Amino acid sequence: VIAGAPPPRLAGRRLLVSAGPTFEDIDPVRFIGNRSSGKMGFAVAAAARAMGAQVTLVAGPVSLPTPPGVRRIDVRRAAQMRDAVLAELPGHDIYLGAAAVADYTPAETLPQKIKKSGETLAITLVRTADILAEVAAHPQRPRLVVGFAAETQDMEAYARDKLHRKGLDLIAANDVGRAGQGFECDDNALSVFWRDGRHDIAHGPKSRVARDLLSLVAERLEALR
Ligand code: CTP
Ligand code: CA
Repeated sequence: VIAGAPPPRLAGRRLLVSAGPTFEDIDPVRFIGNRSSGKMGFAVAAAARAMGAQVTLVAGPVSLPTPPGVRRIDVRRAAQMRDAVLAELPGHDIYLGAAAVADYTPAETLPQKIKKSGETLAITLVRTADILAEVAAHPQRPRLVVGFAAETQDMEAYARDKLHRKGLDLIAANDVGRAGQGFECDDNALSVFWRDGRHDIAHGPKSRVARDLLSLVAERLEALR
């Protein structure tokens, strides 16, 4: 902390953040995953710590170093991420769901490697639980629940629909169809929506985008009082 600088805006707050993809196992050697690198969620965890928050990071399978001072819990599948998030929820002021959680998982994980046979192969998938919606409806709901929305079209409409449907306080939407932002990338740009507002965070390094997002989170948290 620099002498004379304003106090960090998340001092005393406890933030729970999810990050990365989930891997849903088909058999011992194959899984269904997605292109999330975890970088945005890890950047949020690092920035929140730098802004004075106490941070718990629930991370899917990613190869990223743990930000200094952050408590990290590693998981693989959507179901494990859900269990970890719900177990950690009590005591947190903010939940920020940056993970790209699988929407569907194989109905069963086979104990042996599937052998090649016919010309086609069908795998039955079943819906996973929506962790973010469960957190927002939880009896021990954090005061601020923030979602992400990865969209390739009609960003504002789809993001606002998720905001309302899941009962969120804020949603940070990502145009993942655009080159140079979002998945597998060091840069991002976000449009953040809440019931009666919108704030656009300019394109740039995920570290700066994370800081801007958390400044808005701090502001919305203060506005709740
Ligand atoms: N999310 C979650 N649990 C799931 C699916 C999504 O917690 N099983 C969270 C993500 O962490 C993110 C938000 O929901 O914060 C939005 O994810 P997204 O994939 O954009 O939306 P979905 O609700 O899954 O809808 P769709 O994929 O159909 O657009
Ligand atoms: Ca989804």
